[in-house]
Amino acid sequence: MKFSLARGPVPKLTPGLLVVGVPQGNPKKSAVFQELDAAADGSAEAAVRDEKFTGKAGETLLLPGMTRVGCRQVLLVGLGERREITERSYRDLGGHAGARARKAGFQRIGFALETAVEGRGGFGPRQAQALAEGLVLGGYRFQKYLKAEDQDAFDVQDVRVLYPARKGAAEVVEAMEAGRKVADAQCLARDLVNEPANVATPPYMVEYARRLAAEKGLEVRVLERPELEARGMGALLAVSQGTQHPPFLVHLTWRPGGEVKRRVALVGKCLTFDSGGYDIKPPDGMLDMKIDMGGAAAVLGTMAGIADLKPQAEVHGIFAATENMIGPAAYRPGDVLRAANGKTIEVGNTDAEGRLTLADALCYASELEVDTIVDAATLTGACVVALGTDYAGLYTDSDRLARQLVEAGESADEKLWRMPMPKEYRELFKGEVAELKNVGPRWGGSITAAMFLKEFVSPDKRWAHLDIAGPVHADKGRPSTPKGGTGYPVRLLLRWLCR
Ligand code: BES
Ligand code: MN
Ligand code: ZN
Repeated sequence: MKFSLARGPVPKLTPGLLVVGVPQGNPKKSAVFQELDAAADGSAEAAVRDEKFTGKAGETLLLPGMTRVGCRQVLLVGLGERREITERSYRDLGGHAGARARKAGFQRIGFALETAVEGRGGFGPRQAQALAEGLVLGGYRFQKYLKAEDQDAFDVQDVRVLYPARKGAAEVVEAMEAGRKVADAQCLARDLVNEPANVATPPYMVEYARRLAAEKGLEVRVLERPELEARGMGALLAVSQGTQHPPFLVHLTWRPGGEVKRRVALVGKCLTFDSGGYDIKPPDGMLDMKIDMGGAAAVLGTMAGIADLKPQAEVHGIFAATENMIGPAAYRPGDVLRAANGKTIEVGNTDAEGRLTLADALCYASELEVDTIVDAATLTGACVVALGTDYAGLYTDSDRLARQLVEAGESADEKLWRMPMPKEYRELFKGEVAELKNVGPRWGGSITAAMFLKEFVSPDKRWAHLDIAGPVHADKGRPSTPKGGTGYPVRLLLRWLCR
């Protein structure tokens, strides 16, 4: 995909699809719209009048038969009230454009944004990046299992943005290229989340990681059963007893050329399916549980993005892959396990399996020479009850790390809400016959899950836990986020790592 800037006028863009961003108000007052309308012999204005299009956020109007303007279709997209236009507005605009381009198979897209043409500061590199992200993210669909005629490829080759100013032009193009890389990384995570659990098994996740490492120049290390046993990873091994698939711990590393400014480990929950185990889930609760490897999918997506964006950070991507199933060898409620740091755990509920696999993965990450560990896990339904599906829960003792991550989330529009870890709640998951229990009482279920994880992180590391059970998956689509796996929090993590 090639990005370039053009100086105008509007009809000189000559794309297949021309996308016109219109702030809310009377579109006739917009210079870009006037140029378009003049070239279209007044038909744009007539359509806007007939359809009462005013540029409200999310409003779109498709004008077909636009050969006079040098393109096949024009898509008007409302940007909303001028003072409320944010990066998200441009990501959404890009999303509408991407979805349209995919449906109609356009290879060339032009963007005419009044905010970019006026050069009044409404459109700079950040907005350009968001637009490119939205374009690729909005063009995404998981359709590999549909019959050929129902598949429509997103095949945009050439993106041109009207941008008459010379100042900042190189930065704007660079930002769009970065946005494309971020979105590709996120789509990789979406694909993995959307893949059904009979395909995306633990061995599949390992093969995927190996392939990605070879393609992107990452180091890869895979620990198999004997080594997991030697390291005493009894919590991960217990969860894996019920599945026919062997367990794995995967460790990818990106080492930058030149100076290393920070060292970070990302740890993702990787249950390729979560039936609940003997504390089996009801059908409604089990239906979507192929998404329970969304943390690992995000780690893989982020590692791919890092290899493309090349920040001055050493980044480790880690996940412990298994499946939570039932069978004669499966672990039971009441079993006592020992994690890699020696702590003993009583199984209060086999459906609280994620924190067990993460316990050993976090012990492993704690031994690396990193300053910061961030884990992403579809850990608790309780977090979704608390925050809904747009926010992930953020748990950390570091105010500085909290601030950085919340800020990255704002800019990436992958929102986080910080939750507490009160010392007093530690009582709630003490074991009867072992040191810890893997569940607390019903109330505060997301908090006690996070605090359980903390027991396995070395105290000399800065650590944050993201409970992504809500935003990892969308039941209802948005312009840049179609239904299904969202790829959350790849954008957030890349923003944080590349800042
Ligand atoms: N994978 C689930 C959490 C989940 C729920 C993710 C809904 C996405 C959507 C996790 O392993 C789980 O089962 N958690 C239990 C914990 C409980 C047994 C303490 C839950 O949330 O009910
Ligand atoms: Mn579970
Ligand atoms: Zn789970």
